[in-house]
Amino acid sequence: SKVGVIGVPIHMGQPRPGTEHGPEAMREGGLISKLEGLGLDVEDQGDLFLEKHDEDIHDHPAKNVKNVGSASSQIADSVYNTIKSGRTCLALGGDHSMAIGSIYGHSLAEPDHVVIWVDAHADINTPLTSSSGNMHGMPLSFLVKEVQPYLPDIPHFDNIKPCLSAKNIAYIGLRDVDPGERYIIEKLGIHSFSMTEVDKFGIKDCVEKALHAVDPEGNKPIHLSFDIDALDPSLAPSTGTPVPGGLSIREGNYIAEELAATGRLTCVDLAEVNPKLGNDRDNETTVRSAITIIQHCFGNRRQGVYPKDYKFP
Ligand code: ARG
Ligand code: MN
Ligand code: MN
Repeated sequence: SKVGVIGVPIHMGQPRPGTEHGPEAMREGGLISKLEGLGLDVEDQGDLFLEKHDEDIHDHPAKNVKNVGSASSQIADSVYNTIKSGRTCLALGGDHSMAIGSIYGHSLAEPDHVVIWVDAHADINTPLTSSSGNMHGMPLSFLVKEVQPYLPDIPHFDNIKPCLSAKNIAYIGLRDVDPGERYIIEKLGIHSFSMTEVDKFGIKDCVEKALHAVDPEGNKPIHLSFDIDALDPSLAPSTGTPVPGGLSIREGNYIAEELAATGRLTCVDLAEVNPKLGNDRDNETTVRSAITIIQHCFGNRRQGVYPKDYKFP
């Protein structure tokens, strides 16, 4: 099958420099050749050249709205074009504000898609519930239709339209959720499999229930938004907001394998790899984890695989 890779070097959704180097770190870790090794037709489109506005807006509760807003429309365009060209999209972040554009762009190509959000955080703060003002903690609030009445006016977001219903989202891996976010999740009945559910039911049940919850018929295109901080910090130390007690590599790979096995995974985000945080070893660990998750999203299986054109010697 065909994959289109887009680098999304965004960092304006959070305060720590370095997430703009996430895509290059994953490429240098050998991501593209590893995907090709799975027998995939990979088109690496390189990094988006994101518009930079030196004068952003300072009297808004969300920081860098102008930069994040314009980047979001660029990301949406490029994800839309990739999916329309018949490729599964792999969007390499970049901080998690990248998901505003990638999920919206996905919805332009596949209006009926659902979202599996794998993260330590719920990233559904509104600019008014956020205590940080960082937009990487807000992407879902702009996308979920039911949240719109509670949003203040957000300048430079005219190109982004809410495209998700609360019932079409499921979380896996949550363990650091703000009060306003928990309130939204409860009031809207968003399906959530926090680390407590992972502990209680095991990852198999959580993935099965999450898929069934967002799409009982099992025929909708799936968007996986994977924040590397969903994994335990021992496996992904180079990230801006690590939270102890996360998913193991086995659980992360299991989620990826099961979503890939549906045959309906149309877009994957891999967000929040920050090679400027931690030492070289931390970077290598983080990139290795990110790449293994991605490989399992795109057809690798722990049981072993061989490419379609494999010639047995
Ligand atoms: N909930 C916190 C906030 O709103 C942290 C968000 C972290 N998000 C992330 N994509 N790493 O600031
Ligand atoms: Mn997170
Ligand atoms: Mn996140």
